[in-house]
Amino acid sequence: MDFKKALELGVSGAGPDTAWLVPLLDAKGADESALMSAADKKRSVTMGDSVHLRGLIEFSNYCRKNCHYCGLRKDNKKVERYRLSKEKILETALKAEKLGYKTLVLQSGEDLQFSREEMSEVIKELKNKTKIAVTLSLGERDEETYRAWRKAGADRYLLRIETTDPEIFKKIHPDSDLEHRKNCLYTLRKLGYQLGSGVMVGLPGQDALSLAKDIVWMHDLGVEMIGIGPFLPHKETPLKDEKGGTLNQALRLIAVLRLVFPYAHMPATTAMGTIDPMGREKALQSGANVMMPNITPTEVRPLYEIYPNKICLDESAEKCFGCVTARIIAIGRTVGTDYGHTKRSDRRQATSEKRKAT
Ligand code: 5AD
Ligand code: SF4
Ligand code: FES
Repeated sequence: MDFKKALELGVSGAGPDTAWLVPLLDAKGADESALMSAADKKRSVTMGDSVHLRGLIEFSNYCRKNCHYCGLRKDNKKVERYRLSKEKILETALKAEKLGYKTLVLQSGEDLQFSREEMSEVIKELKNKTKIAVTLSLGERDEETYRAWRKAGADRYLLRIETTDPEIFKKIHPDSDLEHRKNCLYTLRKLGYQLGSGVMVGLPGQDALSLAKDIVWMHDLGVEMIGIGPFLPHKETPLKDEKGGTLNQALRLIAVLRLVFPYAHMPATTAMGTIDPMGREKALQSGANVMMPNITPTEVRPLYEIYPNKICLDESAEKCFGCVTARIIAIGRTVGTDYGHTKRSDRRQATSEKRKAT
């Protein structure tokens, strides 16, 4: 299909189909710019101009897994490991709330020391002592654990599928299984979490068709938040000599996602800011509507090195909050003042599509 026809279909809100997704994902030059403008326009109509801020706290860099791309993989013995105490997490959350954050994202490697019970305590404390929405990003756990955390008050869960290509998935996840990961996402959806997933762009062996299939799968799942970023090779990992993703690949993916998911919350991720100093702004102008400034205590920030050259390693939570706010205003947007929960209409849309599918 030619680009023009594909963009027409995308803008019209046609259901995702690899036939039109691929030419958009492969767009170059003037076509690429047209795609990004179309997505920016769609974002402004459906989500408005405000950018929601989510404070990201990376509270443990211990991980039981060995993902081939990630600097925190268990076998990377060069990482100094840390865990924040419950008290430190709470203190950080209180500070974030004071700064104006309405959402906290609690992220860690797959660290079983933060057990079902321990984490439930953290979530309950946070919900008792703040008015903040709690998003978890703690990887694969069992259903009872996900249920307990939801019951403790967690609102949202982020679990990237990374890729739905069975061969690529297997190659880069020595201790993970694609079907199992999908099942984790189905479980999270069933438990009533606002659901986030996403992929990395530029993985070895990945092409536009592979990304298009990821989009179709996430649409069937009914995701409400989508985080994507370029794969950035880390020197202490098996993928150290691979090429990695580019900014433009990631921007095209965000733009296409915005056309397919008019109401999804999509962050301009730190990985985008790492690959290009203006990467996050460019993402916000290609369909993204969320930013996730780092609020991890400065002392441990350099230890959470999932990929190299991460930005803001020496900065404080205050500094990043101010910086991100200024960047949003500089591109003519505003900072969101509400919770930025999933828009109702989109939830209904996702549910009715699920019903149709069954
Ligand atoms: N490059 C880019 N993104 C990475 N992630 C992990 N390692 C890398 C890397 N080397 C992403 C994964 C994970 C998220 C927390 O960070 O998508 O889900
Ligand atoms: Fe662990 Fe997540 Fe890194 Fe995989 S991507 S090694 S699960 S921290
Ligand atoms: Fe941290 Fe800019 S976001 S200094």
